[in-house]
Amino acid sequence: MRFAHRHLLGIEHLSQSDITAILDLAEKYVDMNRQSTKHSDVLSGLTQINMFFENSTRTQASFELAGKRLGADVMNMAMQASSIKKGETLIDTAMTLNAMHPDLLVVRHPHSGAVDLLAQKVNCAVLNAGDGKHEHPTQALLDALTIRRAKGRLHRLNIAICGDVAHSRVARSNLILLGKMENRIRLIGPPTLVPSQFAEFGAGVYDDMNEGLKDVDVVMMLRLQKERMDGGFIPSEREYYHRYGLDAAKLAQAKPDAIVMHPGPMNRGVEIDGTLADDINRSVIQEQVEMGVAVRMAAMELLARNLREAA
Ligand code: NCD
Repeated sequence: MRFAHRHLLGIEHLSQSDITAILDLAEKYVDMNRQSTKHSDVLSGLTQINMFFENSTRTQASFELAGKRLGADVMNMAMQASSIKKGETLIDTAMTLNAMHPDLLVVRHPHSGAVDLLAQKVNCAVLNAGDGKHEHPTQALLDALTIRRAKGRLHRLNIAICGDVAHSRVARSNLILLGKMENRIRLIGPPTLVPSQFAEFGAGVYDDMNEGLKDVDVVMMLRLQKERMDGGFIPSEREYYHRYGLDAAKLAQAKPDAIVMHPGPMNRGVEIDGTLADDINRSVIQEQVEMGVAVRMAAMELLARNLREAA
């Protein structure tokens, strides 16, 4: 299977068969990651640099583990302490790192489009680990793998994406991926957080959660992205939880075997009831984290194959 891309910048650039290729390869790594010895040499000799200009717990840890398990030399740049604080531009930092000959650059940045810009300036493969409100491709891929394993397929499902859609790169990448795989998507949230123009993506838009959740197969919750809000988007967290927080009563509208997802970090009692988030019969939140490592291993392997062919 040919994966004809130099970078992984967004789901936007991927075809159905690219998505399937990554997920199929990731299945192999799910198995490997469950063994007591988790090691392969596919990235051996390659250097992976992680540059996170925004805080991250699971995404950074996941990329780091993925690289190490594939035998790459992995370096985490402490961007808070770096020259960026001294006024160096993103491009200068990128050019400096580029001169050290990395092979894979994993970048998270608060500005939409910053990772694409950086990719144009360097010689290595760039993976977008989240840029502003734009894309978070490996998150959508790990969500897709989680759904495919739980539901046995990744097409013709009714999928609800709920909450702060407007500020969420996770929602955007998922909307594109799940649309490409021919699912029916509903966006649920207050009009301030789910602008009606999102209907252009072919999704149904609902401000009544009970109505929106009717008969869905998958309920994907989103964190309220307060750091990206510049004003009052919700009356209060209490009121928000009352109307849009996922609890057992609202989930009862969905199919009896509907799964509950959340990319983390979760605000328990704001967008999701804590007990429901921990309910292993409904929630696949821990599986999402597990799939994250496998999907990142697969994506880096496919990009590395192209690097080696080009060399
Ligand atoms: C998401 C992100 O950073 O976009 N988190 C993640 O990568 N697991 C979602 C979020 O921050 O709410």
